[in-house]
Amino acid sequence: MKRILISNIGSLITISQMPDARGNIHDSMNELSIIHDAAMIFTDTFEWIGKASEIPTEYIIDQVIDANGRAIIPGFVDSHTHCVFAGNRSNEFARRLRGITYQQIASEGGGILSTVSAVRQASIEELAEKGIELAWKAIEYGTTTIEMKSGYGLSIESELALIKAIEIVKNEVPIRIISTFMGAHDFPPEYANNRSAYVELIINEMLPAVKELNVVDFCDVFTDTGYYSIEDSRRILLKAMELGFSCKVHADELSSFGAAEMAGELKAVSADHLLYCSEAGMDAMKQGGTIATLLPGTAYTLRLPYAPARKMIDRGLIVALATDCNPGSCYTPNMQTILSLACMNMGMSIEEALTSATLHGAYALRAEQYCGSIEIGKSADFNMLDTSSYSDMVYHFGVNHIAKTWSRGISIQ
Ligand code: NIG
Ligand code: FE
Repeated sequence: MKRILISNIGSLITISQMPDARGNIHDSMNELSIIHDAAMIFTDTFEWIGKASEIPTEYIIDQVIDANGRAIIPGFVDSHTHCVFAGNRSNEFARRLRGITYQQIASEGGGILSTVSAVRQASIEELAEKGIELAWKAIEYGTTTIEMKSGYGLSIESELALIKAIEIVKNEVPIRIISTFMGAHDFPPEYANNRSAYVELIINEMLPAVKELNVVDFCDVFTDTGYYSIEDSRRILLKAMELGFSCKVHADELSSFGAAEMAGELKAVSADHLLYCSEAGMDAMKQGGTIATLLPGTAYTLRLPYAPARKMIDRGLIVALATDCNPGSCYTPNMQTILSLACMNMGMSIEEALTSATLHGAYALRAEQYCGSIEIGKSADFNMLDTSSYSDMVYHFGVNHIAKTWSRGISIQ
Protein backbone atom coordinates (compact mmCIF):
# COMPACT_ATOMS: atom_id res chain seq x y z
CA MET A 1 0.00 0.00 0.00
CA LYS A 2 1.32 3.46 -0.95
CA ARG A 3 2.30 5.83 1.83
CA ILE A 4 1.21 9.38 1.00
CA LEU A 5 2.17 12.70 2.56
CA ILE A 6 -0.17 15.65 2.11
CA SER A 7 1.47 18.92 3.08
CA ASN A 8 0.51 22.56 3.04
CA ILE A 9 -2.99 21.89 4.43
CA GLY A 10 -4.44 25.31 5.38
CA SER A 11 -6.63 23.76 8.06
CA LEU A 12 -6.95 20.12 8.99
CA ILE A 13 -10.31 19.58 10.64
CA THR A 14 -9.71 16.39 12.61
CA ILE A 15 -12.90 16.28 14.78
CA SER A 16 -10.77 14.05 16.91
CA GLN A 17 -12.12 14.69 20.37
CA MET A 18 -14.32 11.98 21.76
CA PRO A 19 -17.19 13.49 23.76
CA ASP A 20 -16.34 12.76 27.36
CA ALA A 21 -18.75 10.72 29.46
CA ARG A 22 -21.44 11.61 26.93
CA GLY A 23 -22.23 14.69 29.01
CA ASN A 24 -20.00 17.39 27.67
CA ILE A 25 -21.04 17.36 24.05
CA HIS A 26 -22.16 20.96 23.65
CA ASP A 27 -18.71 22.42 24.19
CA SER A 28 -16.73 19.78 22.39
CA MET A 29 -19.00 19.97 19.35
CA ASN A 30 -18.03 23.58 18.89
CA GLU A 31 -14.34 22.72 18.88
CA LEU A 32 -13.28 20.82 15.83
CA SER A 33 -9.67 20.11 16.84
CA ILE A 34 -8.26 22.05 13.93
CA ILE A 35 -4.57 22.01 13.04
CA HIS A 36 -3.56 25.03 10.93
CA ASP A 37 -0.68 24.77 8.42
CA ALA A 38 -0.87 21.02 8.77
CA ALA A 39 0.38 17.86 7.11
CA MET A 40 -0.56 14.21 7.31
CA ILE A 41 0.86 10.83 6.41
CA PHE A 42 -1.34 7.84 5.64
CA THR A 43 -1.54 4.44 4.02
CA ASP A 44 -5.00 2.87 4.36
CA THR A 45 -5.03 4.37 7.85
CA PHE A 46 -3.76 7.66 9.25
CA GLU A 47 -0.16 7.27 10.44
CA TRP A 48 0.84 10.78 11.40
CA ILE A 49 -0.91 14.16 11.64
CA GLY A 50 0.54 17.43 12.81
CA LYS A 51 2.08 20.77 11.89
CA ALA A 52 3.67 20.98 8.42
CA SER A 53 6.77 22.33 10.13
CA GLU A 54 7.13 19.12 12.15
CA ILE A 55 6.87 16.38 9.52
CA PRO A 56 8.85 13.39 10.82
CA THR A 57 11.63 12.02 8.64
CA GLU A 58 11.49 8.33 9.50
CA TYR A 59 8.60 7.45 7.14
CA ILE A 60 9.33 6.19 3.61
CA ILE A 61 6.98 8.29 1.48
CA ASP A 62 5.79 7.12 -1.97
CA GLN A 63 3.91 10.26 -2.99
CA VAL A 64 3.76 13.87 -1.84
CA ILE A 65 0.67 16.01 -2.48
CA ASP A 66 0.52 19.78 -1.99
CA ALA A 67 -2.87 20.86 -0.63
CA ASN A 68 -2.17 24.47 -1.59
CA GLY A 69 -3.64 25.79 1.63
CA ARG A 70 -7.00 24.09 1.23
CA ALA A 71 -8.97 22.56 4.11
CA ILE A 72 -9.27 18.82 4.78
CA ILE A 73 -12.23 17.32 6.63
CA PRO A 74 -13.18 13.72 7.52
CA GLY A 75 -15.37 11.90 5.00
CA PHE A 76 -19.06 12.30 5.78
CA VAL A 77 -20.76 9.39 7.53
CA ASP A 78 -24.34 9.17 6.26
CA SER A 79 -25.87 6.88 8.86
CA HIS A 80 -29.43 6.71 7.50
CA THR A 81 -30.47 6.06 3.88
CA HIS A 82 -32.91 3.99 1.87
CA CYS A 83 -30.81 4.08 -1.32
CA VAL A 84 -31.75 0.69 -2.74
CA PHE A 85 -35.14 0.78 -4.44
CA ALA A 86 -36.86 0.89 -7.83
CA GLY A 87 -39.29 3.29 -9.50
CA ASN A 88 -39.78 7.01 -9.23
CA ARG A 89 -42.25 9.06 -7.19
CA SER A 90 -41.84 12.50 -8.72
CA ASN A 91 -45.58 12.61 -9.49
CA GLU A 92 -46.38 12.12 -5.85
CA PHE A 93 -43.92 14.83 -4.94
CA ALA A 94 -45.60 17.24 -7.36
CA ARG A 95 -49.00 16.38 -5.87
CA ARG A 96 -47.70 17.12 -2.40
CA LEU A 97 -46.65 20.55 -3.59
CA ARG A 98 -50.26 21.07 -4.58
CA GLY A 99 -51.32 20.37 -1.00
CA ILE A 100 -51.95 16.61 -0.74
CA THR A 101 -50.31 15.22 2.40
CA TYR A 102 -47.82 12.34 2.72
CA GLN A 103 -50.38 10.44 4.81
CA GLN A 104 -53.18 11.00 2.24
CA ILE A 105 -50.99 9.60 -0.51
CA ALA A 106 -50.10 6.62 1.68
CA SER A 107 -53.77 5.93 2.42
CA GLU A 108 -54.46 5.74 -1.34
CA GLY A 109 -51.89 2.93 -1.59
CA GLY A 110 -49.14 5.27 -2.82
CA GLY A 111 -46.06 6.33 -0.87
CA ILE A 112 -43.89 3.54 0.46
CA LEU A 113 -46.25 0.93 -1.07
CA SER A 114 -45.80 2.28 -4.59
CA THR A 115 -42.05 1.78 -4.21
CA VAL A 116 -42.75 -1.70 -2.80
CA SER A 117 -44.60 -2.71 -5.94
CA ALA A 118 -41.77 -1.41 -8.17
CA VAL A 119 -39.17 -3.24 -6.04
CA ARG A 120 -41.05 -6.53 -6.24
CA GLN A 121 -40.89 -6.37 -10.03
CA ALA A 122 -37.19 -5.47 -10.18
CA SER A 123 -34.23 -7.85 -10.37
CA ILE A 124 -31.49 -7.84 -7.74
CA GLU A 125 -29.16 -6.32 -10.35
CA GLU A 126 -31.60 -3.49 -11.07
CA LEU A 127 -31.92 -2.75 -7.36
CA ALA A 128 -28.15 -2.77 -6.98
CA GLU A 129 -27.81 -0.40 -9.91
CA LYS A 130 -29.88 2.22 -8.08
CA GLY A 131 -27.77 1.77 -4.94
CA ILE A 132 -24.55 2.13 -6.95
CA GLU A 133 -25.83 5.25 -8.72
CA LEU A 134 -26.80 6.90 -5.44
CA ALA A 135 -23.62 5.81 -3.65
CA TRP A 136 -21.56 7.51 -6.39
CA LYS A 137 -23.68 10.66 -6.05
CA ALA A 138 -23.05 10.56 -2.29
CA ILE A 139 -19.30 10.18 -2.92
CA GLU A 140 -19.37 13.22 -5.21
CA TYR A 141 -20.53 15.27 -2.23
CA GLY A 142 -17.99 13.79 0.18
CA THR A 143 -19.57 10.72 1.79
CA THR A 144 -17.17 7.86 2.61
CA THR A 145 -19.38 5.71 4.84
CA ILE A 146 -23.06 5.15 4.13
CA GLU A 147 -25.77 3.03 5.69
CA MET A 148 -28.43 1.49 3.43
CA LYS A 149 -31.69 -0.08 4.57
CA SER A 150 -33.94 -2.72 3.10
CA GLY A 151 -37.64 -2.06 3.67
CA TYR A 152 -39.24 -1.69 0.25
CA GLY A 153 -39.72 -5.45 -0.22
CA LEU A 154 -41.96 -6.37 2.74
CA SER A 155 -41.85 -10.09 1.92
CA ILE A 156 -39.10 -12.54 2.81
CA GLU A 157 -38.07 -12.89 -0.80
CA SER A 158 -38.03 -9.18 -1.63
CA GLU A 159 -36.38 -8.12 1.62
CA LEU A 160 -33.60 -10.67 1.03
CA ALA A 161 -33.29 -9.40 -2.55
CA LEU A 162 -32.75 -5.86 -1.25
CA ILE A 163 -30.11 -7.04 1.21
CA LYS A 164 -28.33 -8.99 -1.54
CA ALA A 165 -28.49 -5.90 -3.75
CA ILE A 166 -26.79 -3.91 -0.97
CA GLU A 167 -24.07 -6.60 -0.94
CA ILE A 168 -23.48 -6.00 -4.65
CA VAL A 169 -23.23 -2.26 -3.98
CA LYS A 170 -20.67 -2.98 -1.22
CA ASN A 171 -18.47 -4.72 -3.79
CA GLU A 172 -18.91 -2.14 -6.53
CA VAL A 173 -18.24 1.18 -4.80
CA PRO A 174 -15.03 2.21 -3.03
CA ILE A 175 -16.61 3.38 0.24
CA ARG A 176 -17.82 1.62 3.38
CA ILE A 177 -21.45 0.48 3.31
CA ILE A 178 -23.36 -0.74 6.34
CA SER A 179 -26.63 -2.70 5.98
CA THR A 180 -29.81 -2.44 7.96
CA PHE A 181 -32.87 -4.71 7.76
CA MET A 182 -36.14 -2.77 7.85
CA GLY A 183 -38.86 -5.30 7.11
CA ALA A 184 -40.99 -3.25 9.52
CA HIS A 185 -41.08 -0.19 7.24
CA ASP A 186 -44.76 -0.52 6.36
CA PHE A 187 -47.34 -3.31 6.13
CA PRO A 188 -47.53 -5.11 2.77
CA PRO A 189 -50.89 -5.00 0.95
CA GLU A 190 -51.43 -8.75 1.33
CA TYR A 191 -51.42 -8.29 5.13
CA ALA A 192 -53.48 -5.08 5.15
CA ASN A 193 -56.26 -6.78 7.07
CA ASN A 194 -54.04 -8.93 9.23
CA ARG A 195 -51.19 -6.78 10.36
CA SER A 196 -50.35 -8.91 13.37
CA ALA A 197 -49.61 -11.86 11.06
CA TYR A 198 -47.01 -9.74 9.29
CA VAL A 199 -45.42 -8.85 12.63
CA GLU A 200 -45.22 -12.59 13.37
CA LEU A 201 -43.66 -13.18 9.95
CA ILE A 202 -40.95 -10.61 10.69
CA ILE A 203 -40.23 -12.09 14.10
CA ASN A 204 -40.38 -15.77 13.26
CA GLU A 205 -39.17 -15.92 9.67
CA MET A 206 -37.68 -12.73 8.28
CA LEU A 207 -35.28 -11.90 11.11
CA PRO A 208 -33.85 -15.46 11.26
CA ALA A 209 -33.51 -15.54 7.45
CA VAL A 210 -31.70 -12.20 7.45
CA LYS A 211 -29.48 -13.40 10.30
CA GLU A 212 -28.54 -16.41 8.19
CA LEU A 213 -27.04 -14.11 5.53
CA ASN A 214 -24.65 -12.76 8.16
CA VAL A 215 -24.11 -9.40 6.43
CA VAL A 216 -26.57 -7.11 8.21
CA ASP A 217 -25.65 -5.12 11.33
CA PHE A 218 -28.85 -3.30 12.25
CA CYS A 219 -32.60 -3.76 12.50
CA ASP A 220 -34.84 -0.70 12.13
CA VAL A 221 -38.59 -0.22 12.72
CA PHE A 222 -40.94 2.61 11.66
CA THR A 223 -42.66 3.36 14.98
CA ASP A 224 -45.35 5.95 14.33
CA THR A 225 -49.05 6.63 13.90
CA GLY A 226 -50.42 4.34 11.18
CA TYR A 227 -47.27 2.21 11.12
CA TYR A 228 -45.79 0.01 13.89
CA SER A 229 -47.20 0.31 17.41
CA ILE A 230 -44.88 0.63 20.39
CA GLU A 231 -45.81 -2.89 21.42
CA ASP A 232 -45.09 -4.48 18.03
CA SER A 233 -41.92 -2.42 17.56
CA ARG A 234 -40.64 -3.53 20.94
CA ARG A 235 -41.28 -7.20 20.15
CA ILE A 236 -39.50 -6.94 16.80
CA LEU A 237 -36.51 -5.11 18.25
CA LEU A 238 -36.19 -7.48 21.21
CA LYS A 239 -36.12 -10.44 18.84
CA ALA A 240 -33.56 -8.63 16.66
CA MET A 241 -31.32 -8.01 19.66
CA GLU A 242 -31.68 -11.63 20.72
CA LEU A 243 -30.31 -12.59 17.29
CA GLY A 244 -27.40 -10.17 17.66
CA PHE A 245 -28.56 -7.18 15.61
CA SER A 246 -28.13 -3.65 16.92
CA CYS A 247 -31.27 -1.51 16.82
CA LYS A 248 -32.42 1.70 15.23
CA VAL A 249 -35.87 3.28 15.29
CA HIS A 250 -37.66 5.63 12.86
CA ALA A 251 -39.07 7.54 15.80
CA ASP A 252 -41.74 10.24 16.16
CA GLU A 253 -41.45 11.41 12.55
CA LEU A 254 -45.16 12.05 12.01
CA SER A 255 -46.47 12.35 15.57
CA SER A 256 -45.41 12.36 19.20
CA PHE A 257 -45.81 8.62 19.56
CA GLY A 258 -43.55 7.58 22.41
CA ALA A 259 -41.06 6.02 20.01
CA ALA A 260 -38.05 7.89 21.38
CA GLU A 261 -39.01 6.75 24.89
CA MET A 262 -39.06 3.15 23.66
CA ALA A 263 -35.74 3.57 21.81
CA GLY A 264 -34.08 4.87 24.96
CA GLU A 265 -35.58 2.16 27.10
CA LEU A 266 -34.28 -0.54 24.72
CA LYS A 267 -30.89 1.22 24.51
CA ALA A 268 -31.26 1.40 20.73
CA VAL A 269 -28.10 2.67 19.03
CA SER A 270 -30.07 5.51 17.46
CA ALA A 271 -33.53 6.99 17.21
CA ASP A 272 -33.94 8.81 13.91
CA HIS A 273 -36.18 11.66 12.64
CA LEU A 274 -37.58 12.82 16.04
CA LEU A 275 -39.55 15.73 14.58
CA TYR A 276 -42.16 15.32 17.30
CA CYS A 277 -39.91 13.92 20.04
CA SER A 278 -41.19 14.69 23.54
CA GLU A 279 -39.12 15.92 26.48
CA ALA A 280 -39.57 12.51 28.10
CA GLY A 281 -38.30 10.95 24.88
CA MET A 282 -35.15 13.06 25.02
CA ASP A 283 -34.57 12.08 28.63
CA ALA A 284 -35.05 8.40 27.82
CA MET A 285 -32.60 8.62 24.94
CA LYS A 286 -30.01 10.29 27.09
CA GLN A 287 -30.48 7.65 29.74
CA GLY A 288 -30.20 4.83 27.20
CA GLY A 289 -27.16 6.29 25.38
CA THR A 290 -29.25 6.49 22.20
CA ILE A 291 -27.96 8.80 19.46
CA ALA A 292 -30.46 11.35 18.07
CA THR A 293 -30.08 11.08 14.30
CA LEU A 294 -31.69 14.11 12.69
CA LEU A 295 -32.70 14.18 9.04
CA PRO A 296 -33.53 17.79 8.17
CA GLY A 297 -33.89 16.98 4.46
CA THR A 298 -37.08 15.08 5.33
CA ALA A 299 -38.64 17.95 7.30
CA TYR A 300 -37.74 20.19 4.35
CA THR A 301 -39.24 17.90 1.70
CA LEU A 302 -42.38 17.07 3.69
CA ARG A 303 -42.66 20.67 4.90
CA LEU A 304 -42.88 19.54 8.50
CA PRO A 305 -41.46 21.27 11.58
CA TYR A 306 -37.75 20.54 12.08
CA ALA A 307 -36.54 18.34 14.94
CA PRO A 308 -35.60 20.28 18.12
CA ALA A 309 -31.84 19.95 17.58
CA ARG A 310 -30.92 22.87 19.82
CA LYS A 311 -32.86 21.48 22.77
CA MET A 312 -31.31 18.06 22.26
CA ILE A 313 -27.74 19.33 22.09
CA ASP A 314 -28.26 21.58 25.07
CA ARG A 315 -29.58 18.59 26.99
CA GLY A 316 -26.42 16.64 26.26
CA LEU A 317 -27.76 14.23 23.63
CA ILE A 318 -25.40 13.11 20.89
CA VAL A 319 -26.89 14.43 17.65
CA ALA A 320 -25.97 12.91 14.29
CA LEU A 321 -27.01 14.24 10.89
CA ALA A 322 -27.88 12.04 7.91
CA THR A 323 -29.69 12.36 4.59
CA ASP A 324 -32.53 9.77 4.82
CA CYS A 325 -32.04 9.54 1.03
CA ASN A 326 -35.18 7.76 -0.24
CA PRO A 327 -37.61 8.10 -3.15
CA GLY A 328 -40.48 9.51 -1.07
CA SER A 329 -39.71 11.84 1.77
CA CYS A 330 -36.21 13.09 0.92
CA TYR A 331 -34.47 12.37 -2.35
CA THR A 332 -30.94 13.61 -1.81
CA PRO A 333 -27.68 11.83 -1.00
CA ASN A 334 -25.90 15.19 -0.56
CA MET A 335 -24.55 15.68 2.97
CA GLN A 336 -23.50 19.28 2.26
CA THR A 337 -27.16 20.17 1.69
CA ILE A 338 -27.93 18.53 5.03
CA LEU A 339 -25.30 20.72 6.74
CA SER A 340 -27.00 23.79 5.28
CA LEU A 341 -30.47 22.73 6.37
CA ALA A 342 -29.23 21.87 9.88
CA CYS A 343 -27.56 25.25 10.33
CA MET A 344 -30.26 27.39 8.76
CA ASN A 345 -33.34 25.61 10.14
CA MET A 346 -32.33 23.75 13.29
CA GLY A 347 -30.13 26.36 14.94
CA MET A 348 -26.96 24.30 14.75
CA SER A 349 -23.55 25.93 14.42
CA ILE A 350 -21.39 24.92 11.47
CA GLU A 351 -19.06 23.14 13.89
CA GLU A 352 -21.90 21.19 15.48
CA ALA A 353 -23.25 20.24 12.08
CA LEU A 354 -19.86 19.06 10.85
CA THR A 355 -19.27 16.97 13.98
CA SER A 356 -22.77 15.50 13.65
CA ALA A 357 -22.22 14.59 10.00
CA THR A 358 -18.93 12.81 10.65
CA LEU A 359 -17.94 11.49 14.09
CA HIS A 360 -21.49 11.35 15.42
CA GLY A 361 -22.67 9.56 12.28
CA ALA A 362 -19.97 6.99 13.04
CA TYR A 363 -21.39 6.66 16.58
CA ALA A 364 -24.80 6.02 15.08
CA LEU A 365 -23.29 3.12 13.13
CA ARG A 366 -21.10 1.84 15.98
CA ALA A 367 -18.20 2.57 13.64
CA GLU A 368 -16.41 5.26 15.65
CA GLN A 369 -13.46 2.99 16.35
CA TYR A 370 -12.46 3.10 12.69
CA CYS A 371 -14.06 6.10 10.97
CA GLY A 372 -15.69 9.52 11.47
CA SER A 373 -12.59 11.55 12.37
CA ILE A 374 -8.99 12.08 11.33
CA GLU A 375 -7.08 10.22 14.02
CA ILE A 376 -4.05 7.97 13.99
CA GLY A 377 -5.09 4.37 13.33
CA LYS A 378 -8.47 5.22 11.83
CA SER A 379 -9.34 4.52 8.21
CA ALA A 380 -7.93 7.24 5.91
CA ASP A 381 -11.34 8.52 4.73
CA PHE A 382 -11.31 12.25 4.05
CA ASN A 383 -12.10 15.11 1.71
CA MET A 384 -9.96 17.93 0.43
CA LEU A 385 -12.17 20.99 -0.04
CA ASP A 386 -11.88 23.54 -2.85
CA THR A 387 -11.49 26.26 -0.20
CA SER A 388 -9.37 27.00 2.84
CA SER A 389 -12.47 27.51 4.99
CA TYR A 390 -14.80 24.68 6.05
CA SER A 391 -17.48 27.31 6.73
CA ASP A 392 -17.88 27.78 2.98
CA MET A 393 -19.82 24.50 2.90
CA VAL A 394 -22.69 26.35 4.61
CA TYR A 395 -21.93 29.98 3.76
CA HIS A 396 -21.30 29.48 0.03
CA PHE A 397 -24.27 27.16 -0.26
CA GLY A 398 -25.62 25.18 -3.19
CA VAL A 399 -22.08 24.62 -4.43
CA ASN A 400 -20.19 21.33 -4.17
CA HIS A 401 -17.03 22.11 -2.21
CA ILE A 402 -15.38 18.70 -2.50
CA ALA A 403 -12.19 18.87 -4.57
CA LYS A 404 -10.87 15.36 -3.87
CA THR A 405 -11.81 12.36 -1.76
CA TRP A 406 -9.79 9.48 -0.29
CA SER A 407 -11.40 6.32 1.02
CA ARG A 408 -9.26 3.84 3.01
CA GLY A 409 -6.23 5.74 1.73
CA ILE A 410 -7.14 5.49 -1.95
CA SER A 411 -7.97 8.53 -4.04
CA ILE A 412 -11.50 7.90 -5.39
CA GLN A 413 -12.25 11.24 -7.02
O1 NIG B 1 -37.47 7.71 6.54
N1 NIG B 1 -40.37 7.08 7.56
C1 NIG B 1 -40.33 6.15 6.84
N2 NIG B 1 -39.57 5.93 5.78
C2 NIG B 1 -38.95 6.89 4.97
C3 NIG B 1 -39.84 7.35 3.89
C4 NIG B 1 -40.00 6.29 2.90
C5 NIG B 1 -40.77 6.69 1.68
O2 NIG B 1 -41.60 7.63 1.67
O3 NIG B 1 -40.55 5.97 0.71
C6 NIG B 1 -38.40 7.99 5.81
O4 NIG B 1 -38.85 9.15 5.77
FE1 FE C 1 -35.72 6.81 6.87
